[in-house]
Amino acid sequence: MRVLGIESSCDECSAAVVVDGERVLSNVVATQIPFHAVYEGVVPEIASRMHTEWISSVVKRALAEASLRPGDVDAVAATARPGLSGSLLVGLSFGKAFAWARGLPFIAVDHMLAHLYAPQLETKVTYPFLGLLVSGGHSIICRVDGFDDLTVLGTTIDDAVGEAFDKVSKHYGFGYPGGAYIDELAKKGDPLAFRFPLPNLHKGEHRYDVSYSGLKTAVVNQLEQFRAKGAEATRENIAASFQKTAVDILLRSLFRAVEDTGLTTIVAGGGVAANSYLRARLAERKDLRCLFPPLSLCGDNGAMIAGVGYRFLERGDRSGLDATVSARVPAFKRRYP
Ligand code: KG4
Ligand code: ZN
Repeated sequence: MRVLGIESSCDECSAAVVVDGERVLSNVVATQIPFHAVYEGVVPEIASRMHTEWISSVVKRALAEASLRPGDVDAVAATARPGLSGSLLVGLSFGKAFAWARGLPFIAVDHMLAHLYAPQLETKVTYPFLGLLVSGGHSIICRVDGFDDLTVLGTTIDDAVGEAFDKVSKHYGFGYPGGAYIDELAKKGDPLAFRFPLPNLHKGEHRYDVSYSGLKTAVVNQLEQFRAKGAEATRENIAASFQKTAVDILLRSLFRAVEDTGLTTIVAGGGVAANSYLRARLAERKDLRCLFPPLSLCGDNGAMIAGVGYRFLERGDRSGLDATVSARVPAFKRRYP
């Protein structure tokens, strides 16, 4: 089954064709980053307008690169949540219209399930495993028993990890979006130059939770102290020390989950899964099998939507043409979605 996947939840306008949830024929990602960079953050109005202008040509290119005509597509999947409502509406509406016009099955999918599915476009994974979903909007540690069967063990109690990267980067003017800039700067810095405290979250229901607002505040508010230390307070050292602590926070909760569940396979997904330091730290654990998506599939992309969409379609699930968008996931704590 050739599934056309459409993703427009934030600032990437993307379409892809994937066969049987496994073989990526094309994956076109048109990024809006340069258009939002001057504002140092995604401007929702600009994002939805650009999706409207681009979506048609992005889908055409995805079909052309897969050497397919519109009539060769067997089903359509599009992101319905979470994300920016206006942006989501563009891709979802386009996907529904494409499916309706050709009488194809249509499925509306959850963006976070798709991030978690991304590594499976390259590697076979057996369930259960521990999922590490880390992006600009989410930080989730979960037990995964099937492609849509997630039990959330821990999540952030305030900011998402990617959000912390972005805010620190914005404060110091490292670049937008912050994650990749901090990752690069940190390679030349000393991660032990500044020691930031870890949040105090070890008990009871917070055992696997994470928190980033304290770290962000510490990194931002200690600027003067860094400066007073003179030469040490380089951009590289600030980036490396922040990144080390951000990753320590994630790994502390993740490794607790490994110990408690006995699960030794970890699958990571989301934009922060591109982080080279996080990858290196997990690679040190020879007792664990850690799967990351290839860098091209870490950020938002249509291939992961087509991939996970296929799993729903294969099971016989279909969405009606009344499917609509939702900015957030429905209130969840221990169950996702
Ligand atoms: O999954 P994604 O593309 O969009 C959302 O669904 O949020 O993730 C974007 C986030 C941003 O916060 C960005 O700064 C972060 O992923 N990111 C990184 C890296 N590349 C992107 N964070 C840390 N290290 C990176 N190399
Ligand atoms: Zn994403």
